[in-house]
Amino acid sequence: MMSQACKKNDEKIPAAADTTAVAASAVAKVAYGTLPDGQAVEEYTLKNKNGVELKVINYGGIVTSLKVPDKNGVLEDVVLGFDSLKGYLGGSPYFGAIVGRYGNRIAKGKFTLDGQTYTLAQNNNGQHLHGGLKGFDKVYWHIAEVPAAEGPSLKLTYTSKDMEEGYPGTLQAEVTYTLTDNNEFKIAYTATTDKKTVVNLTQHTYFNLTGNAKRDILDHQVMLHADKFVPVDKVLIPTGKLKDVAGTPFDFRTATAVGQRVNEKDEQLIVGGGYDHAWVLSPADSGKAVASVYEPTSGRFLEVYTTEPAIQFYCGNFLDGTVVGKQGNAYAKRFGLCLETEHYPDSPNQPSFPSVVLNPGETYSTQTTYKFSTK
Ligand code: GLA
Repeated sequence: MMSQACKKNDEKIPAAADTTAVAASAVAKVAYGTLPDGQAVEEYTLKNKNGVELKVINYGGIVTSLKVPDKNGVLEDVVLGFDSLKGYLGGSPYFGAIVGRYGNRIAKGKFTLDGQTYTLAQNNNGQHLHGGLKGFDKVYWHIAEVPAAEGPSLKLTYTSKDMEEGYPGTLQAEVTYTLTDNNEFKIAYTATTDKKTVVNLTQHTYFNLTGNAKRDILDHQVMLHADKFVPVDKVLIPTGKLKDVAGTPFDFRTATAVGQRVNEKDEQLIVGGGYDHAWVLSPADSGKAVASVYEPTSGRFLEVYTTEPAIQFYCGNFLDGTVVGKQGNAYAKRFGLCLETEHYPDSPNQPSFPSVVLNPGETYSTQTTYKFSTK
């Protein structure tokens, strides 16, 4: 069952029980459970010199925990999730997962490439969402520890077969997670294909900077470096036009609490049930954050950097307390927010949107960084 990559891994990474060796390595792994097909899942812990700790499992490449300090140096978990594999297998709303092959929606689960129409699962209101019934959030990713100058790093790999979930081409996907000593969670995605296809990979971590999700995220102050956003219809498919944020509750060019305008009677807030839209990122002025989130009580500050043209800001509108997460915490409405860096929704059907086509011989390559500090 174990692949070559995993065997190599076993040699490099000491067993979790061997605590001395674990401390030296900065990456530890422990058994995390078994998938219905018998595949063993492991949880990897990355630790940096400041004690920041990131945990990742093979299933879905899910980030199960991310502990960062508050303004007093207290380390707490800032991501939603479950205490065990069972939770992730039992209908998780993409907590912490890698999303692919196409993050976000594709209208009616159809798109055409070179005259050929491809049909995908209609798994969300008659639309295709987040890669289908068994997207990248629900597959087993091989994980290997890789050397990186910046801090502990893992390479996650998955080969998606030709026509898997209806998408053409064998897609070799690679996602590298690095935890730097600057308290950054860096993600690098690459993919190659043997047939023309579409790709849009992202990460679906739900953040709650209060630490251990003490309350909802309505007081979190969000900044989005975007002059326009992508309006959607009632099934959350883009209308095809972009809209100026100026004069609307979608203007986050100055940091604003999520709760300040989320319940306004704005047509786009009503269709989204709150914020659940792609913002068109202004070309980053060299190295500036495209988005940030500040939580005033803990002082935690999150900045997002990306090479992607858009960011889906989703404020947990569909959470309703029925999902019971870590330590019995029933995640109520707006208990977490996602900042999914990606291309615009439904790009395969929208000729005016930046292309998501990947050809054989090309390498899809994008990077996103989530940087934590306090103020
Ligand atoms: C995305 C979508 C939302 C919702 C969540 C998962 O962020 O944009 O509409 O489907 O995933 O619940």
